[in-house]
Amino acid sequence: MDNKTYLIFLLFFVTTYSSLRYADSKTPFENFLQCFKNKTNISDKDLTDVVLPQTSVSFTTVLRAYIRNARFNTTATPKPTVIIVPRVESHVQATVICTKTLNYQLKIRSGGHDYDGLSYISSAATFFVLDLSNFRNITVDLNDDGGSAWVQTGATLGELFYRIWEKSEIHAFPAGVCPTVGVGGHVSGGGYGNMIRKFGLTIDHVVDAKIVVANGEIRDRKTMGEDLFWAIRGGGGGSYGVVLGFKVKLVEVPKTVTVFRVDKYMDENALDMVYKWQFVAPRTDPGLFLRVLVSSATKNKTLTVRARLRALYLGDANDVVLKMAKEFPEMGLKKEDCKEMTWIQSMLWWMNHVDVDKVKPEILLEREPDSAKFVKRKSDYVEKEMTKRELNRLFKKLATLDRTGLVLNPYGGNLNATATDATAFPHRNKLYKIQHSTTWSDAGPEAERLYIGNLRTTYRIMTPFVSKNPRSSYLNYRDIDIGVNDHGVDSYRKGEIYGRKYFGDNFDRLVRVKTDVDPDNFFRNEQSIPTLPFNKRR
Ligand SMILES: Cc1cc2nc3c(=O)[nH]c(=O)nc-3n(C[C@H](O)[C@H](O)[C@H](O)COP(=O)(O)OP(=O)(O)OC[C@H]3O[C@@H](n4cnc5c(N)ncnc54)[C@H](O)[C@@H]3O)c2cc1C
Ligand SMILES: *[C@@H]1O[C@H](CO)[C@@H](O)[C@H](O)[C@H]1NC(C)=O
Ligand SMILES: *[C@@H]1O[C@H](CO)[C@@H](O)[C@H](O)[C@H]1NC(C)=O
Ligand SMILES: *[C@@H]1O[C@H](CO)[C@@H](O)[C@H](O)[C@H]1NC(C)=O
Ligand SMILES: *[C@@H]1O[C@H](CO)[C@@H](O)[C@H](O)[C@H]1NC(C)=O
Ligand SMILES: *[C@@H]1O[C@H](CO)[C@@H](O)[C@H](O)[C@H]1NC(C)=O
Ligand SMILES: *[C@@H]1O[C@H](CO)[C@@H](O)[C@H](O)[C@H]1NC(C)=O
Repeated sequence: MDNKTYLIFLLFFVTTYSSLRYADSKTPFENFLQCFKNKTNISDKDLTDVVLPQTSVSFTTVLRAYIRNARFNTTATPKPTVIIVPRVESHVQATVICTKTLNYQLKIRSGGHDYDGLSYISSAATFFVLDLSNFRNITVDLNDDGGSAWVQTGATLGELFYRIWEKSEIHAFPAGVCPTVGVGGHVSGGGYGNMIRKFGLTIDHVVDAKIVVANGEIRDRKTMGEDLFWAIRGGGGGSYGVVLGFKVKLVEVPKTVTVFRVDKYMDENALDMVYKWQFVAPRTDPGLFLRVLVSSATKNKTLTVRARLRALYLGDANDVVLKMAKEFPEMGLKKEDCKEMTWIQSMLWWMNHVDVDKVKPEILLEREPDSAKFVKRKSDYVEKEMTKRELNRLFKKLATLDRTGLVLNPYGGNLNATATDATAFPHRNKLYKIQHSTTWSDAGPEAERLYIGNLRTTYRIMTPFVSKNPRSSYLNYRDIDIGVNDHGVDSYRKGEIYGRKYFGDNFDRLVRVKTDVDPDNFFRNEQSIPTLPFNKRR
């Protein structure tokens, strides 16, 4: 070719190449926007509130509104490229279709209480967050089969409790005791509260659901089938689809319930109380829930250990005092220690409002958290009571570990009346659950190293006393430490490590369902259910 032809060719090549480059150089936001507009009929005006790029003036406010752990609220925290705040179901459908087509990761956020922030952070370079805070409708129907409610996943537990209370003082719902927790993540991970021994888990009361699956279609219980319906009740959020809402059955509670607290330091025989607690709390009347918080605490300017017992009894004070005198004299419970109240007031008491007559149930509707603390949690299950010697070892160590504690939650009662494979949650037959907990308020890596280090120390010294092969964990107490060093992100083998800890033998069924409904693994996070490797698929 002569020079002229060559030049023309070159010119052609350069313009074609740069126009290709130009098409490619559209940002992920622009690509998404084009697709989203095509799939919905959203007006340009609404679009600016629904699809937020990082340059949007409300991006930071919207992102922060449901960050509940100060560790993930820093400039170094990975930020989504786009936040989508859907107003109607078709926005969710379009988000799923467009994000999947463009092959970006989508994180789903309801209440944002994930302890390790998995609903709004990611290790992926580009990821989107679907924020369901507008999906908060709740309809309570007392006449439907003893009482039921449809609740959208972006509603909080407090809102659900409040909407039930508006209609009836003797209806309730067995779920977590922190009112700002989101329904979406809570139910997806199993969910429990202080009525667990009477009514079982939150998922035991879910009778229907609405979910957007990977192809963008909306399914209910009938159209999704029993396998998927089984998986989304306890198998963890973010693996199967975007749950829009759950239909739940309400429970009936007495007009009067009783609460009490008993605190003891190490020099007041706290150890004996905790030792005896292990025998009583998992076996007593299912209407009685006795939680114990064992933690390091300062007394007379020295670090020691304190055990704090918190109780809910679904009945009156005389009853429970008599019961405890017989079963648990070491606690020394007196009638004066007890407070009688309605169930909704007991929820306020569990929120640490001591004088429940002075607070209104409307505080259950508040979405603003009262703290911006740094937290880390881990969990364990105990199958056999610890001896006094073993407890003593724990107490001695705890007394050296600032800001570290264990929350002991008794199982037994009606929780254990359901088979361990009836739902995805496998830990029903355990004696009690431990939440390892540390909470601090100073920013910076030094404090983080210290307090998380303390937490890992208690976790390590508990090793001989907790469940083994696998050492079990509760999904809703998300712990990203589990499996973190194993075999790279998203691989089946890594999934098996955290999967067996969270789901026991139910893991295999969860993987089969996952492979059926989302074979491309579009719905994924750092601890989601993996698909079967290709060579193992049918
Ligand atoms: C202060 C506090 C108190 C708590 N108390 C209790 C308690 O008493 N009992 C208890 O069982 N747990 C308790 N938890 C744990 C809590 O249940 C879990 O953190 C739960 O997952 C939070 O739900 P969320 O919607 O607020 O969280 P998010 O952070 O929004 O979501 C958690 C996970 O679920 C996924 N997800 C969220 N919404 C959806 C959806 N609509 N569809 C599909 N996937 C979704 C997310 O992607 C993420 O992986 C508590 C947590 C905190 C921070
Ligand atoms: C969406 O895209 C399709 C295919 O490119 C096109 O036919 C259709 O007109 C578009 N719809 C809207 C609302 O933009
Ligand atoms: C968008 O609007 C057009 C005309 O109003 C309608 O025909 C079409 O079905 C709508 N599409 C969607 C996805 O809502
Ligand atoms: C996040 O940071 C903002 C701004 O500093 C602050 O107002 C908010 O309380 C913080 N939230 C958490 C949970 O740390
Ligand atoms: C909530 O209910 C209202 C009133 O029925 C309705 O207009 C709105 O679309 C619903 N919101 C969602 C997200 O479904
Ligand atoms: C507090 O500690 C001091 C010094 O160790 C000791 O002398 C004092 O008796 C203690 N007081 C109480 C109330 O235990
Ligand atoms: C749970 O039930 C099984 C079988 O009925 C029983 O053996 C076990 O002791 C129970 N465990 C608890 C903690 O109640």
